[in-house]
Amino acid sequence: MWPHGLNTSALLLVFLIGNTAANFCITNGPLGMITGSIHDWQITASSTYPQDWDKGCSEKYARVYLPNKLGWCAKYKSSSEWLQVDLGVAARVTGAMTQGRGDGVEWVTSFMISYSMDAFHWQYVTDHYGNQRVFEGNTDSYAIRHVYLDKPIIARYIKFHTVHWHRHPSMRVEILGCQLCKEPVGLPPYGKISASSSRKFKKKSSCQPDDGNIFSTKGWCPKKQDTNQWMQIDVGPPTLITGVISKGRGDTKRKHWVERFKISYSNDTQVWYFYKDAHHLDPKLFGGNNDKNSVRTHFLNSPFVSRYIRFHPIEWKGRISMRVGLLGCPFTGVCTDGFMRVNDDTPCVENLAYKKESWINSKRHYKRHIRNHLTEGHASRAVDGVMDLNLQGCTFLDNLYGDNPVWTVDLGDTTDVSGVIIYTWQGEGQEKGGKSFREYMKNLDKLVVYIDEDLREEDESYASGNMCNYVSSLNNALFHQKLILQCIRRHKGRYVLIEAWGVPNSWSRLFSAVLCEVQVFK
Ligand SMILES: *[C@@H]1O[C@H](CO)[C@@H](O)[C@H](O)[C@H]1NC(C)=O
Repeated sequence: MWPHGLNTSALLLVFLIGNTAANFCITNGPLGMITGSIHDWQITASSTYPQDWDKGCSEKYARVYLPNKLGWCAKYKSSSEWLQVDLGVAARVTGAMTQGRGDGVEWVTSFMISYSMDAFHWQYVTDHYGNQRVFEGNTDSYAIRHVYLDKPIIARYIKFHTVHWHRHPSMRVEILGCQLCKEPVGLPPYGKISASSSRKFKKKSSCQPDDGNIFSTKGWCPKKQDTNQWMQIDVGPPTLITGVISKGRGDTKRKHWVERFKISYSNDTQVWYFYKDAHHLDPKLFGGNNDKNSVRTHFLNSPFVSRYIRFHPIEWKGRISMRVGLLGCPFTGVCTDGFMRVNDDTPCVENLAYKKESWINSKRHYKRHIRNHLTEGHASRAVDGVMDLNLQGCTFLDNLYGDNPVWTVDLGDTTDVSGVIIYTWQGEGQEKGGKSFREYMKNLDKLVVYIDEDLREEDESYASGNMCNYVSSLNNALFHQKLILQCIRRHKGRYVLIEAWGVPNSWSRLFSAVLCEVQVFK
């Protein structure tokens, strides 16, 4: 199906985008000539009638529904003329719309379509017999005609070849289909922005990493002006990146913007790769901005899959400052290991607790729980990333060794915490005989979550600590399978603690809480 010599990155792209497009693309609409999401620079032609001779003729006017008399007009009346549209990112194309120039005299009566992934290897759309298909074009200068392809194609570049015309080969077009991977990805609050350095934080002032997102009105600025500075976006689970966007700094009277930059990417922030175009040995130097607020977009000819993407300013005007964004395929699959969704419709974000060190009560008495001889109930079961809600896959907290048992996870670093999700036990996997955990759970009154910078001394109460939030047994709230506890305010801390409280004045002192999975999110 694909011509020999198609490079591997293009093949990868066909696979990635082709697969996603084939599996998930359900819309079938205009791809951007009408709306302008296809920029003027993405429209080119074999030749164009000089504007000095006719102001109405330009590639950028090759859009259906533009006012009459505007359109693309080939310079020559020749059947080897073509109009090319770069869709930026590969799309699943099902058809096209064509229109004459709207001057009453010029239109294209038949045309052919060719397509490509890399603007280098081209194929014609064929008919049933495998011949280059000649499409019926327009019959007057005004009406819009809709043509269908026999079967959809996956392509980034589309060419309209003029075959026959009335008076002059002039036309306006739109391409129809579905395009998945041209959407902003890694946006706040889910995308996390950080930087090599940033100027000191002052109220109302700008320059923080978050000010560098493409929709901000401000800009990120590093402390130093050298080529070692970078701004990083963490998009979450590795995501297909197809384009990069940049702007200058918006909130200063001075002229601060980045004229050239490089891009690097990584899955772990340890091993980095500089972005190179296919067949190039050197990192690509992207053209940046030359004013404060214009948006500059680059579509990548070698899209990549990655979690962390860095922008490295190389040349700048005034001082380094920029706003950046990424285009790609929003991640839709099951969250990969170490990621979670707060609710079913939000993106995958990092689970800060995943496989981190955890313990019950004090770090020294690591495995204490209601039945010491059991292998179940280990503290780490709550952060193993396995959504196993069987008793055997859960952590037990009980008051055998203290009035308020505490489960703790060490996030490794001090970080912002917005909330905690607790998956509770729903009665699965209880062994026969003995007093059931369910009975003990009836004596559980509340779970309180704290976020702390330091560990407390053993037996010191957390009641006055840095509380994030709590959930109580009122209306059985405590016994829902999934408890989402958003911190009342945003906390900074390294340790997340969950403390269990028994029902006051209960006839039996014994209570237990069963934590099957605990997730912590920023
Ligand atoms: C990142 O991981 C994904 C798989 O999860 C892989 O497809 C991709 O190539 C990796 N990217 C880098 C830069 O290592």
